[in-house]
Amino acid sequence: MTVQEHFEPLIDSHAHLQDRAFASDLPQVMQRAQAANIGKIICIGYDYDTSVEAVSLAHQYQQVYAVVGVHPHDAKTLNADIISKLYALARDPRVVAIGETGLDYYRDLSPRDIQRQAFVEQIKIAAELNKPIVIHDRDAHQEVLDIIKKEKAGRNQGVMHCYSGHLPLAIELMKEGFYISFAGPLTYKNARKTVEVASRITLDRILIETDCPYLTPEPLRGKRNEPAHVVYVAQKLAQLRQKSLAEIAYQTSLNACRVFNLPQS
Ligand code: NI
Repeated sequence: MTVQEHFEPLIDSHAHLQDRAFASDLPQVMQRAQAANIGKIICIGYDYDTSVEAVSLAHQYQQVYAVVGVHPHDAKTLNADIISKLYALARDPRVVAIGETGLDYYRDLSPRDIQRQAFVEQIKIAAELNKPIVIHDRDAHQEVLDIIKKEKAGRNQGVMHCYSGHLPLAIELMKEGFYISFAGPLTYKNARKTVEVASRITLDRILIETDCPYLTPEPLRGKRNEPAHVVYVAQKLAQLRQKSLAEIAYQTSLNACRVFNLPQS
């Protein structure tokens, strides 16, 4: 882009600001996000302690909202005590969803039956509290879809974060009430399948995210990721959809406000 284009503030729909990668310079990271026109950041927990930290950041920064839950990697930490503490934590008004939960059969850091149990438990929390759910799915597409259907996980809507599946699955997930979120990998050279999905699904179901500190988009791949970089995902989407950055910013921010029930300002 040669001309600096005016656009609505972007929403980074999935960031781990509480990660220790940001321990020494979070205030500067937040300043750069503001300078890059990132209006809201959804900070996602991956176990109980990082969920508590997400809530505390959401109280510290007015542009941050929290999502609380236990990642499939940490599924083995979700016992009855943690479930009741998550219920209490999720009632905080700054908590906009439950997650990230789901299945990760790529790294298998918790046993698969434990991952499935933890996923179902968190779908129940979201249902009981009338909140959407944020789902992580790696190499477990069919089982994730089966559980979503069986447990009606999309009854309060939800987000498939860092989408890596194919087009027919995305269409099935949208029917179940899910939004499809794209991260840095959309900008990678080998992203043919993801590019196809991002090019073809309806724009009113697309979110953008960083998943920072991971998954840094091109042209910064290899560096630490941070919310300011979500603009590269938005630009890639604009190029694929032959839209302006302003149109992509408007629509993806509207979508994020809808799914997470955020104020549109
Ligand atoms: Ni994540």
